[in-house]
Amino acid sequence: MRKNIVAGNWKMNTTVPEGVALAKEVSDCLAGFKANCDVVICVPFTHLVPVCGAIDQAVLGLGAENCADHKSGAYTGEVSAAMVASTGAKYVILGHSERRQYYGETSETLREKVALALENGLTPIFCIGEVLEERENGSYNEVVKKQIEDGLFNRSAEDFGKIILAYEPVWAIGTGKTATADQAEDMHAHIRKTIADKYGKEVADNTSILYGGSCKPSNAAELFAKPDVDGGLIGGASLKAADFMGIVKAF
Ligand code: 13P
Repeated sequence: MRKNIVAGNWKMNTTVPEGVALAKEVSDCLAGFKANCDVVICVPFTHLVPVCGAIDQAVLGLGAENCADHKSGAYTGEVSAAMVASTGAKYVILGHSERRQYYGETSETLREKVALALENGLTPIFCIGEVLEERENGSYNEVVKKQIEDGLFNRSAEDFGKIILAYEPVWAIGTGKTATADQAEDMHAHIRKTIADKYGKEVADNTSILYGGSCKPSNAAELFAKPDVDGGLIGGASLKAADFMGIVKAF
């Protein structure tokens, strides 16, 4: 059966010493507490090696926030999936809306990234979600379905089973405006049905679908109580150990 997961996405925040201290604080909190979910932090590339050395990955998984769409070679400034895996990280966020929006990521590049992540043993946390206009004009279900179809439905059922999905309505990211628990549940159920139609009920039932967008200790429990919401991808509230732990404890 699918796992419940709380994952942090630090985005472009913290220096290396600050990040190591934060990661260690979260890891130490988790060591003294039996969480009812898997807990992961996704950190900037520069932080992966020192954070890996500072945490206990038995209680706190580690991931990157992106990886390259090429294997290796003349791609100045890029970081490959193999490089990420060689740090000890086990996860990678792919297709975050900020990368789609500011760095022109398309479903085509994302298919390459997903393939390379899987080849290197990384678990992709694949992000999908509509913008405000699409929420308001009612096209959000189709938009999200198409993101899943175009980015992931070239994979085998076996590969798909290794992927975590994160539904992040763009209008809820960093805005303080969370989707209601009912809005999240409706979309998550739609996502699960989309997966079931392609890969069958068993694969769909085993896929963890996280919610992201202004998730915080005060609203996490209500969101996580919904049957198809299997945890959260947390931005701002993952930058303070107490807030992040407050969300972990919502399970
Ligand atoms: P916030 O939690 O800051 O809204 O960010 C959500 C997010 O983008 C996580 O990937």
